[in-house]
Amino acid sequence: MTRVTPWPALDGIAYGGDYNPEQWDRAVWDEDVRLMREAGVNLVSVGIFSWALLERSEGVFDFAWLDDLLDLLHANGIHVDLGTPTASPPAWFFHAHPEARVLTRDGRTMGFGSRGMASHSSPAYRAAIARIADALAARYAAHPAVVLWHVHNEYGVPVGEDYSPASVAAFRAWLAERYGSLDGLNAAWGTAFWGQLYTAWEHVGAPADAPSVVNPAQRLDFARFTDAQLRACFRIERDAIRAHATQPITTNFMANQSWTTDLWAWGREVDIVSDDHYLWAADPDGHVGLAIAADLSRSVGGGAPWILMEHSTSAVNWQPRNVAKRPGEMARNSLTHLARGADAILFFQWRASRSGAEKFHSAMLPHAGTESRVWREVVDLGAALGRLGEVRGARVQAEAAVLWDFESFWAQDLEWRPSIEVTHQAQVRAAYEQLWRDGVTADFALPGHDLSGYRLVVVPAQYLLTMADAANLTSYVAGGGTLVVSFFSGIVDENDAVHAGGYLAPLAEVLGVRVKEFLPLREGETVSLERADGTRLTARSWAEDLLVAGAETVARYADGPAAGRAAITRRRHGEGTGWYVSTSLDAAGLAATFAAAYADAGVSASSVPAGCEVVVRRGAAHDFTFVVNHRDDAVTLDLDGVELLTGAATDGVVTVPSGGIAVVRSALPESATR
Ligand code: GLA
Repeated sequence: MTRVTPWPALDGIAYGGDYNPEQWDRAVWDEDVRLMREAGVNLVSVGIFSWALLERSEGVFDFAWLDDLLDLLHANGIHVDLGTPTASPPAWFFHAHPEARVLTRDGRTMGFGSRGMASHSSPAYRAAIARIADALAARYAAHPAVVLWHVHNEYGVPVGEDYSPASVAAFRAWLAERYGSLDGLNAAWGTAFWGQLYTAWEHVGAPADAPSVVNPAQRLDFARFTDAQLRACFRIERDAIRAHATQPITTNFMANQSWTTDLWAWGREVDIVSDDHYLWAADPDGHVGLAIAADLSRSVGGGAPWILMEHSTSAVNWQPRNVAKRPGEMARNSLTHLARGADAILFFQWRASRSGAEKFHSAMLPHAGTESRVWREVVDLGAALGRLGEVRGARVQAEAAVLWDFESFWAQDLEWRPSIEVTHQAQVRAAYEQLWRDGVTADFALPGHDLSGYRLVVVPAQYLLTMADAANLTSYVAGGGTLVVSFFSGIVDENDAVHAGGYLAPLAEVLGVRVKEFLPLREGETVSLERADGTRLTARSWAEDLLVAGAETVARYADGPAAGRAAITRRRHGEGTGWYVSTSLDAAGLAATFAAAYADAGVSASSVPAGCEVVVRRGAAHDFTFVVNHRDDAVTLDLDGVELLTGAATDGVVTVPSGGIAVVRSALPESATR
C-alpha cells in the first residue's frame, strides 16, 4: 500500500506560481531561479501545458528539458508541483483523432490552436491521458523536487459539455445505469409531456439545441453526466500517477467561477483541494466574491487547509476591462485567502509571456522586470508569508453555514423559470454578503450534511431539494438550529419535478408555511414590507402568496401583488427556529432580518467596523486572528497578542491602516482549551 503525504513536503506557507519556462532560452532559467529565491518562492507549477513538448508523437517522449529544469529547481531549493498537460493535447493527437474534438450544444466542432478542446468521452483521448500521466509519474515520482501533482487544468472550462457521438453513447450508458430501464427514464424525465416518450435506447440523445426549450430533467441529467465524465478523466490520471508516486495529487478548481463541476464530489477525489481565483474587475466589492471562493474551497475540502493555485498579481487579460490591482491589493487578496484557510499562495504566472494569448496578463515578474511596483510587492509578500509559517494547519472557525448545492444550481439556472432576476449566484451572494458585512464567518454546506455544529444555516437558493435533505434540515432545527430559508427554495425534486403538495411542501413542517403562488415583479418594481413594530423594509424582483400554517408573521407585504399578506415568517420547531423570507430584500432588509435570526441562533454579529473582515484560524496552541481593512481609514480593535507581520506585541489593541492587514497570535480562549 502506498502511503500518501497529506501536504506537500515543504516548510512554511507555500509561495510561487505557474512556471512555463519552455517559452524561454535556457539562460533565462538561471535568472528565474535567482529571482525566485529573492522573492521567497518555494513552490512552482510546471508542465501544465507542455504535452506537445514532452510527447513529440504518439509514445515518443522527450524529457531532457524537464529533467534539466527539475534538477535546476531542486538545486535551488524550489519545490515542484508537477502538472499533467492534458488540458492541451498536441496537434498530432487531433490530426490522428479528429473525432476527439468537442462538439458544442449548437453543433460546432471546436478547432485547434487553443486549449481545453478534447472530448472527455473520447476513447483515444482517455488512452492518451493515461499514457502521458503514466510516463510522467514513472519518470518523476522519485524526483526530490516533486512535492505535489497537478492533474490537468481547470476541468470543465472553457468547455465542459460535449455533444460528440462518443459523448452521446456514453450518456446513454450512464442513463441506463442510473434508471435501469427505459420506463424508469421516461418516468424520471416526465416524457409524457410534449410527447417525448422513448421506446428504444438508441432514440435517447444529449439535450442539443432544439426549436424550443429542451426537457429540463434531461438537461439536469446531462449536467450530472458531464461532471461524472470529467471526474472519470481525472481518476484515470490520478490512478496512473498513484501507481508510481506517493506525493499528494490535486487538480485546480474554479470554486464560484465555473459551474460544470460538482466540487463536493471532486473534493472527495483529490488529496488536497486547490483553487484558482480571479477578481471580477467590474465588481467594486470583488473581495466579497474572493471570500466566497475561499470559503467554498475550504468547505469542499472538509475544512482542511487548501492551496490557492492561481490568482493574479495585478490585471488579468480576459475581462472586458482589465483593471490593475492598486498598491497593496495583491497582498490583501493573498492574505485574505490565507485567513480563510489557504496554506499556499500561488499565482498565474511567474514570468509574463511575450507571445501568445496571455501576454497582457500580469505576472510575478512583469514585462517591466524588477524595476516595477508589482515585483517589489511580490518580494514583500514573500517576506510576509515567511513570517506566517506557524499559521499553517490552523482551522478556520465558522458559526454559520450557507447551503451551496451544484445540482440545485444546474437545475435552477435553466430556461423558463418564473423570473430571470432570480438566480442561484445572485441569491447566494446577497445572503453571504450580509454575513460578511456582519462579520459572521461561514462555511458552505450541502443540505444533506451534518449541520449540527452550526448555530445558523442560511438557505439562499435551494430550488432543488430532495425529501431526504428536507428531513435533514427539519431535524437540524428540531435539534436546536436556526434555519433561514429564502424564496424559490424547496420547489422541485431530483428530477426537476415540482414537489407533490406544491412549492415549499418538503419544508412545511419546519417553516409552518407553504407557497400558494409566485408573484414575480416587473423590472425595477419594488415592494414594501411592514414589520410588527411598524418599521418598513424594501424588496424587489419577487413576491409570493403564502399559506401560513403554524408560523408567526414577522413582516407583511404593505403593497404590491401580495399586499396585506405574510412576507417573512418564523416558527419554533423542536428546540430551534425556522425562518422563511419570501422576497428579495435589499441590504437594509437583510440586515434587519438576519439580526433577528442571529438573536435566535445565539450568533454574535462582530463589532468590527463596516468594511473590515475578521477571520479566526485556530491552531493547536493559538488563535490567529486576521484583520483585513478595506476601508479608507485606519481601524483599531481590541486584540491581545503578537502581530505576526511586525513581530510586535499588541498591548491589547491593534491598529490596522487603510488597506492593511494584521495577523494577531493570541492564547486560545478558555472554551477551546476545555
Ligand atoms: C486560468 C488558467 C491559467 C491562466 C489564467 C489566466 O486560471 O488556469 O492557465 O490562463 O486563467 O487568468
